[in-house]
Amino acid sequence: MKAMSSTIILSVLATCLVGPLSGSEPLEPIHLPPPETSGGMPLMLALNNRMSTKEFSKQVIPRENISNLLWAAFGINRPESGKRTVATAVNCQDIEIYVVLDKATYVYQAKEHRLIPVLNRDVRSLAATQEYAQVAPINLVYVSDYSKMADRFKDKKPIYAAFHAGSISQNVYLYCASAGLGAVVRDSVDRAGLRDAFNLSEDQVIVMAQSVGYAPSD
Ligand SMILES: Cc1cc2nc3c(=O)[nH]c(=O)nc-3n(C[C@H](O)[C@H](O)[C@H](O)COP(=O)(O)O)c2cc1C
Repeated sequence: MKAMSSTIILSVLATCLVGPLSGSEPLEPIHLPPPETSGGMPLMLALNNRMSTKEFSKQVIPRENISNLLWAAFGINRPESGKRTVATAVNCQDIEIYVVLDKATYVYQAKEHRLIPVLNRDVRSLAATQEYAQVAPINLVYVSDYSKMADRFKDKKPIYAAFHAGSISQNVYLYCASAGLGAVVRDSVDRAGLRDAFNLSEDQVIVMAQSVGYAPSD
């Protein structure tokens, strides 16, 4: 019994601490290291460097960078209120970030700053219908959960969802510019295929995707 609990603790520690993320992780929650919430490139320089990258290498992204990336995207920056790095209408926080890796997909939980497994197969061809983006080590899929927006905003839900995903994608672009990563926001998603794969409810709407990775070195 004691030996078994040590094994579990070691395996959780290993999941927390080592190596870059790849789809070969066991399908258990992945606890990300705490994000680095200071430093990075000066904002004006990051804005000057922001661009879409349309060619990716297979180089894996270190776990620390994934932690920073997701925190920058839509992490909690005020723990006392649970508010995030992006403004949302009446603080509805409707966007869920699905993190598509080569062999598995996870969803980001901001409060716990961890990834929860969604499925353990390769859905990159659904998350990215353009070949160049299928090579990227990470494809983020922004899903709005309309049930998180009050019914009085019924007519505005698509606008709010697009606005929120757009804000998240700009945070990702700026983080990537700062960290020497490439990114591109994309509409080229197989929405019907992904909806099935992710087993989304009627309230969950796929807004956009964004590929992240290193540009090939020359
Ligand atoms: C709403 C939106 C949808 C986009 N969809 C795609 C897409 O499906 N495929 C793609 O390769 N790029 C896509 N892009 C990226 C644009 O091609 C890119 O932003 C544009 O060429 C300007 O380049 P820049 O981002 O480097 O300034 C999209 C951008 C936006 C804002």
